Amino acid sequence: MSDTAMSETVSFSRQGTIGLIKVNNPPVNALSQSVRAGLRDAVERGLSEPDVAALVLICEGNTFIAGADIREFATGLGEPALVPVIDAMETAAKPIVAAIHGTALGGGLEVALGCHYRVAVPTARVGLPEVALGLLPGAGGTQRLPRLVGAQVALDMIVGGGHVPAPKAKELGIIDDIVEGELLDAAVTYAEKLIAEGKGPRPIRDIRPEQVSLSVFDDYEQSIARKQRGFLAPFHIIKSIRAAFELPFEQGMAREQELFAELMASTESKAQQHIFFAEREVAKVPGLPKDTPLRSIKTGAVIGAGTMGGGIAMNFANAGIPVKLLDVSQESLDKGLGIIRRNYENTAKKGRISQDDVERRMALIEPVLSYDDIKDVDIVIEAVFENMEIKKEVFRTLDATCKPGAILATNTSTLNVDEIASATNRPEDVIGMHFFSPANVMRLLENVRGERTANDVIATVMKFSKSLGKVGALVGVCDGFVGNRMLHARTRESAFLVEEGARPEQVDKVFYDFGFPMGPFAMADMAGLDVGYKVRQERRKAGKKEKRDSVWIDRIVEMGRHGQKTHAGIYKYEDGRTPIPDPEIAGIIAQCAKEAGIEQREISDQEILERCLYPMINEGAKILEEGIAARPLDIDIIWINGYGFPAYKGGPMFWADQIGLKTIYDAYLKYAEKFGEHYWKPAPLLEKLAKEGKGFYG
Ligand code: 3HC
Repeated sequence: MSDTAMSETVSFSRQGTIGLIKVNNPPVNALSQSVRAGLRDAVERGLSEPDVAALVLICEGNTFIAGADIREFATGLGEPALVPVIDAMETAAKPIVAAIHGTALGGGLEVALGCHYRVAVPTARVGLPEVALGLLPGAGGTQRLPRLVGAQVALDMIVGGGHVPAPKAKELGIIDDIVEGELLDAAVTYAEKLIAEGKGPRPIRDIRPEQVSLSVFDDYEQSIARKQRGFLAPFHIIKSIRAAFELPFEQGMAREQELFAELMASTESKAQQHIFFAEREVAKVPGLPKDTPLRSIKTGAVIGAGTMGGGIAMNFANAGIPVKLLDVSQESLDKGLGIIRRNYENTAKKGRISQDDVERRMALIEPVLSYDDIKDVDIVIEAVFENMEIKKEVFRTLDATCKPGAILATNTSTLNVDEIASATNRPEDVIGMHFFSPANVMRLLENVRGERTANDVIATVMKFSKSLGKVGALVGVCDGFVGNRMLHARTRESAFLVEEGARPEQVDKVFYDFGFPMGPFAMADMAGLDVGYKVRQERRKAGKKEKRDSVWIDRIVEMGRHGQKTHAGIYKYEDGRTPIPDPEIAGIIAQCAKEAGIEQREISDQEILERCLYPMINEGAKILEEGIAARPLDIDIIWINGYGFPAYKGGPMFWADQIGLKTIYDAYLKYAEKFGEHYWKPAPLLEKLAKEGKGFYG
């Protein structure tokens, strides 16, 4: 029988005694209004046709339903709501089979759980990832899944938000059968067999939840308390799953709805939804034609086998791309490879990869000593010492040896990419790829477009970032690019604040309470104080004088206290890791303040927050004005993935909009009056938006 349209996106047809409900809502078959309405009508239709014995729900395209339509959250969800649609399916008098391929996620899995049986292809995955959007499964997921898999697995799956592969889902009882061959045929056969065996509907709501001690939920909350600090959704999810064990089904559903509504109204969820779309938008470069051709990257090379170079090489190996690691001496190569192997062995010890994976990845990294050995690779990433002359020399050699069309990337974090490119006769092939340390772990890649970088090089590197498992954000050339430039503004103010009387541990606590994993001083101690010291000395030597120079950290470095690695820095470290405030340092700070003629005072946490974070926002505004970042979302993605900005605050620019740009602008005027305009001049864009009552996002 031909398909009858039930809505724009759902059709109904028949194959013998089986009614087929097909969803076709590209790209991911999200549960838009027309899908919900179509599902409702198609189920009604199937139930009303006397010679339809069972129904199969299947999706067109690459995937089963991947969840609610997140874009509808901002505009409001029209009728029918998802919960009654799923209720109608679950309480239907004829059995319904969900046929799953691709991913059944969020509302998609909830629809499948509303069906009476679930079959899937072997490659399918299922999950309830709402937590990543700051939500909980709001269409029965927290009530039905625990009835199938028990409290512990439901907690892990819904609080963790991960995808479960079909074989594991079958083991857990989420999927009834894994089917080979054509999914539609297999699902129809499965449904026919049900009918032949006289099997009818099997609503999950009728399953009595396992008996559990309610302390399971308290213990779970305890176990995630630190890691999920600041997020709302994980804790609401625990409450909602708990309701499945404490309340009858209908009341549990009502509790889920209540908690879902609270999350939906929260700024945390709005911020996380913003990140979901921003992470996808960031890959789309404004002005770069969609059909820009891509260069093929099948092999790569990394210059420099130090910590950074080694970490970058690991990214290639992790992605299955052969990479040559070049250094000047065998000794450096041996050392670098030794560290890489140790890293992999440690990951294997934690059970995250197998010993075979270790060997496979090591085999993809080939140590080489000569540039001649890398002449045929498709991309080279230079990660040598951060010095312009050395980098230029490397690029001169690359220009002389690499094949035409090879992408020549520099991992510089501070130097001018255009100047590096000028050492070659092919600046169009040169680009920055700024990895963050540790390069094998951190997700962020700041890709730096030079003045002459070719469009296809930009497009290729942006796409390649994803292949390496990174989030690539495109930025322009300037001192510090986006991330470090904004960080610099924050670092400066935090040092001033301490000089004026705030305690380092007070400043760090303000940051921690805001949601950063640690504050600037604990971070500086961890990174090593000597690094920043050298940079400052270089800047001073180069005549780049700061208007106000606070020297207390330099004094600490000069005492031989370089941070955690010397068991002492701004803090002391008795166990090598835990920062302990040190009275000796308090004395040095007081002394430096006195020498600078600064009278120390009590400083409020609010002043710390404003003086550290608002200059970042102001710098962000300048970055936008200058076109260094194309959109505020690029900045947000950089800060969330590279600098530990709390995801539930959506990134600095999103957060600034929540605070209100007028508030930030007014604070700028207040501080300008107190400290002078030098560091407190609002960026014209900040001023303009504040006066217009707008935000960075409109
Ligand atoms: N709603 C609206 N749009 C969605 C969407 C959704 N649920 N999921 C994906 N999209 C869009 C993306 O924004 C992207 O759009 P673009 O091409 O315009 O940028 C497009 O679909 C393709 O997405 P990806 O680039 O992410 O494609 P991948 O193939 O890499 O990944 C996926 C596919 C695994 C399905 C991934 O998109 C994904 O994880 N999606 C989100 C799943 C999710 O969170 N579901 C739960 C939603 S909340 C919910 O269901 C509430 C319920 O409990 C009531």
